[in-house]
Amino acid sequence: MEMNQVLTIFLFLFFVLFLAVNALRTLSGDPCDPTTQRHSRTLRYDQLTVLINGYSESRIPLLQSLVAAYAASPLVSSVLVLWGNPTTPVQTLSVLAQNLSVASFGTAPISVVRQSSSSLNARFLPRPSSVGTHAVLICDDDVEVDHRSIEFAFRIWGSNRDRLIGFFVRSHDLDLKSKEWIYTVHPDKYSIMLTKFMILKSDYLFKYSCEGGSTMVEMRRIVDRMRNCEDILMNFVVADETNAGPILVGAQRARDYGDARNDDSGELWGSEEEGVKKVGLSSRRGEHRKRRGECIMEFHRVMGKMPLRYGYGKVVNSVGEQGLCERGGHLVFCDQ
Ligand SMILES: *[C@@H]1O[C@H](CO)[C@@H](O)[C@H](O)[C@H]1NC(C)=O
Repeated sequence: MEMNQVLTIFLFLFFVLFLAVNALRTLSGDPCDPTTQRHSRTLRYDQLTVLINGYSESRIPLLQSLVAAYAASPLVSSVLVLWGNPTTPVQTLSVLAQNLSVASFGTAPISVVRQSSSSLNARFLPRPSSVGTHAVLICDDDVEVDHRSIEFAFRIWGSNRDRLIGFFVRSHDLDLKSKEWIYTVHPDKYSIMLTKFMILKSDYLFKYSCEGGSTMVEMRRIVDRMRNCEDILMNFVVADETNAGPILVGAQRARDYGDARNDDSGELWGSEEEGVKKVGLSSRRGEHRKRRGECIMEFHRVMGKMPLRYGYGKVVNSVGEQGLCERGGHLVFCDQ
């Protein structure tokens, strides 16, 4: 063989190897692989992507109706159901996916994704192949918000693209006696937007999951250890970036069917119900708050500062916000 041929073969093999390595990297599905991220220019501003958490099989009927409503909205580019319960049979999820694809005929596409790990951090993974919008709506499978309020919230996001926008908030505070950070509800201010319903820019998914070096690695580990608080950590990430608190939007009708996993339901900020609820603080809810306070302490320790900022007041389109309360075994509007 001539030298030229040897060289050509060598180059060819080298090229094949190069392709193979790249293909493997893509196939391995590293969600933080910078080469698979979308360029900002290719993302749309006029619609949002809905990432809805699903967990409980008993709530599938409610999930289906929520997802169908989101998909039918002209604001929505696509809906991803992020299924976090690893014990759900494959069969159930494929029937759900089939049901949803039938329901989504003529609307935004819907897909069901089984989370590859049980980590709560997975809900914030950047999903460049599925997220084609700047705005992402993170929500739970037990919260129903009327279409006009969603539209309004999205409009508010449009003029506050670096902030967290949503309908359900909580607060951090410093307990002066114990000198510890606590998780609480203030009547007049808030610093934590809950993921019951949260609009944020998709860049923050990358920031949460892929940036921040060893500090963020440790903070994400705290989420895994506590099996809680991924929403609080997102608030830390965003507040640290913007030096500003979240923006609370008033919903015309926000029904919270309650989250059995963390018993953090029914508390609508600023509602009359709040006082009653706090007096009758159940021990389970007290325990939940304590754990969330521990998360705040841990995040503060690792970050070495407290980035959370308060927001005041609420942006309203029109009045009225409804919570569902249980009275005598029935779900009724709290103000009834
Ligand atoms: C799928 O749809 C059928 C018919 O409406 C319903 O009976 C079933 O419960 C649904 N199953 C799932 C898993 O969504």
